[in-house]
Amino acid sequence: MCRTQTFYSMRLKGKIALITGAAGGIGSATALCFAEEGARVILADIDTDGCEAVCARIREQGGDAMCAFVDVNSEELIVGLFSSIREQYGRLDILVAVAGGDLDPFTPADEITGSSIDSNLALNLRSCMLCCREAARLMKPQQYGRIVTMSSLVYRGAQGQFSYAAAKGGIASYTRALAMTLGSSNITVNALAPALVDVPAFRKALGSERWEVLLRESGSRYPLNRVAQPLDVAKAALFLASDDAAFITGQILEISGGARL
Ligand SMILES: NC(=O)c1ccc[n+]([C@@H]2O[C@H](COP(=O)([O-])OP(=O)(O)OC[C@H]3O[C@@H](n4cnc5c(N)ncnc54)[C@H](O)[C@@H]3O)[C@@H](O)[C@H]2O)c1
Repeated sequence: MCRTQTFYSMRLKGKIALITGAAGGIGSATALCFAEEGARVILADIDTDGCEAVCARIREQGGDAMCAFVDVNSEELIVGLFSSIREQYGRLDILVAVAGGDLDPFTPADEITGSSIDSNLALNLRSCMLCCREAARLMKPQQYGRIVTMSSLVYRGAQGQFSYAAAKGGIASYTRALAMTLGSSNITVNALAPALVDVPAFRKALGSERWEVLLRESGSRYPLNRVAQPLDVAKAALFLASDDAAFITGQILEISGGARL
């Protein structure tokens, strides 16, 4: 699915890669893409059935995958996940921290509540920071790592998305700070910042008809005249996780079809 040229060697052969939010649109495309490129993938999500389905697809295609139920709001569960990775694999080469989403979209600025701010920051920013902390603990001694965080084009600011924009902006700043710190341990840290992505969760929430209209309207405003598919994001994650991007760190990669130039 993500391989376009047959003469490439597998870009992640033998790498151990953890992907959070792996049952979702972007996470599952990333897991499938990484497995296809030879990585041994660990899929973490609260959606156990969704995760198992992605794992089964990977195994059917001859890949190596395992699932873990992890609520990224729980520091204890995150710590447990990384210690089981340490026990089972003894190392971690790649983290792609995808889990997240806007829990409070389009609430007017003068109506947002403290608890909705807390939950959006916890799901998006705090979880990312805790996963990166645990990844760094595994990666520093091995003097190798690729960390890819999930920001959003919304990090530049978006009407009606307040705590989500703050969280994704926080992820962008945190990514840069972490890159400055971990570079000397041969660990790169970069963020993905997609514009609208055509994921099944949005289609389900809005209904196919409304979603198609929104896709067309949004896409027509982008120079490339379409919105992103999950695979567009997965391929960007693959590049940043691969050794092709060995000298790229601290970057916020906008995957936006040129939406904001
Ligand atoms: N779809 C877009 O337009 C878009 C654009 C920019 C950024 N993003 C970001 O991409 C990431 C993935 O989003 P998606 O579009 O694939 O949506 P999605 O809803 O398909 O995927 C999100 C996944 O995260 C999981 N998740 C949610 N809460 C969790 C928790 N507490 N613990 C563990 N897992 C949890 C969900 O079960 C789901 O599988 C999110 O961080 C989102 O903010 C999405």
